Amino acid sequence: MSQHILVETKDRVTRIELNRPEKKNALTLEMYAAMAKALAEADADARVRAVLIHGQPACFCSGNDVKDFLELERAPGASPAAGFLRAISTAAKPLVAAVGGPAVGVGTTMLLHCDLVYAAPSARLQLPFVPLGLLPEAASSLLLPAMAGYRRAAEMLLLGEPFGAEKALAAGIVSEIVPEAELMERGRQAALALAALPPESVRMTKELMKRGLARGVQERMTEELQLFGERLRSPEAKEALRAFLEKRKPDFSRFS
Ligand code: COA
Repeated sequence: MSQHILVETKDRVTRIELNRPEKKNALTLEMYAAMAKALAEADADARVRAVLIHGQPACFCSGNDVKDFLELERAPGASPAAGFLRAISTAAKPLVAAVGGPAVGVGTTMLLHCDLVYAAPSARLQLPFVPLGLLPEAASSLLLPAMAGYRRAAEMLLLGEPFGAEKALAAGIVSEIVPEAELMERGRQAALALAALPPESVRMTKELMKRGLARGVQERMTEELQLFGERLRSPEAKEALRAFLEKRKPDFSRFS
C-alpha cells in the first residue's frame, strides 16, 4: 500500500517500519493510512500478540510531512492522519516503540499511546506545534500533562523545543534508554516477551490501565482535530510552514 511503511508479521509480532529516511520518515497521507491498516489488521489477527513500531536506529519520525500540511484540503477529522490516531489510541494489543534520532510532532505524540518505549541516547523529541502556528494533536494536550505533569508538559508544548532521551525518560514518555546499537533488538525482545505472555490477560490489563482516560482521549482528539484544521488555515501556520520549506526563520512580528 505504501512503500514507505514496511509491515511484517513474524513470531506473533507485527513490525511496522517507517521507511522514508530521505525525508527523515516524515509521514505522508499514504503512510498514515498504511499504519492505520497495519494496526487494525494486527488487532484483528488472532495470531498477533504485540506490535513493534520503529524507524531506523538514528531516525524515528520527523512528524507530519510539512508539504502535506500546506496542501491539506480535506477536514482533518476525516483524514488518514486522524484514522491513524484513532487506530493507535484504541489498539487493544500492546504497542512497543523503538526510537532513535528525531521524533518530531506526531513522532512524539504517537509514543504517548504506546505501552513500552525504548529510546537511544540520540533520540531527539520535539512537539513544535506552537512554533508552527498549530496546536497539540493525538490528545497530547490531555495525555502529556497527565503523564509528565503540567510543568513539564507546558514547557514541551508551549516552547516546543527539542529534548533528549533523559528528559523524555524523566517525563515518563520513555520506558528505558538503550545504546543505539541495541535499540532495535531491545524493542524486538520486549515485543517477543509480551507475545509470550497470556494474551487475554495482557489485553485486559492494558484496557484497565487506559480505561480512566479512554473516553476523554477520544473526545479531546476530536476537539483538537477540529481546532488543528482551523489553525492549519491560519496565516500564522502558513508563515511557519512556508518558512520551513524555504529553509528560513519564520517571522511572526506582523501578527497580533
Ligand atoms: N516534512 C517534510 N519534509 C521533511 C520533514 C517534514 N516533517 N522533516 C524533514 N524533511 C525533509 C527536509 O526538508 C529535507 O529535505 P531535502 O533533503 O529535500 O531538503 C530532508 O527531509 C532532510 O531533513 P533535514 O532538515 O536536512 O535533516 P536534519 O537532520 O538537519 O533535521 C529534523 C531533521 C527532523 C530535525 C528537521 O528536518 C525538522 O525539523 N523537520 C521538520 C519537523 C516538523 O516540523 N514536523 C512537523 C511537526 S508538527
